Amino acid sequence: MRDLLRQRTSLKEEIEILLNNQVKMEAEASAKYLAMASWCDRNGYKNSAAYFMKQSDEERAHMLKIFNYIMTVGGTAVSPEVPAVKQEFASFRSVFETALQSEISVTQAINRIVTQSRREEDYGTENFIQWFVNEQIEEEDNARRAVELFDVIGEDGTGRYQIDKAILKIGSSEE
Ligand code: FEO
Repeated sequence: MRDLLRQRTSLKEEIEILLNNQVKMEAEASAKYLAMASWCDRNGYKNSAAYFMKQSDEERAHMLKIFNYIMTVGGTAVSPEVPAVKQEFASFRSVFETALQSEISVTQAINRIVTQSRREEDYGTENFIQWFVNEQIEEEDNARRAVELFDVIGEDGTGRYQIDKAILKIGSSEE
């Protein structure tokens, strides 16, 4: 049955697996950001909590975008199982360092999909995934900027309060 269906779509199994893995990775990113929002909230960093809530929403939107694409091209989209995510962080700064590291991993996974799409001559998927290539440039830039704020503002005195305030402007032209 599965093979019969396979003949009715040009989606290769290898690409379908990579896309479903990406669905899972985006769902996991969404869950990670929720945990970061909660940590920031309970430690008094309300703006950062709001920032991570928004990031979490965006990751869910990414997940849905890929999920929908798999269905559109006749594949089997798999509702992802999300592994337990880290709820505690050593410091305010480490939350943002973890976020940056996570975005870098996502970029690498997206790049692997581009590479594999080309190898399999799946130009539809290559074209679809370009949106994510661009999105990752922006997301990595924002995550890097957040970590940078710890150095340019400094954490002493009211530093962390100022950093939390500055986080709000990340991604906007006001910064
Ligand atoms: Fe959808 Fe930030 O990775």
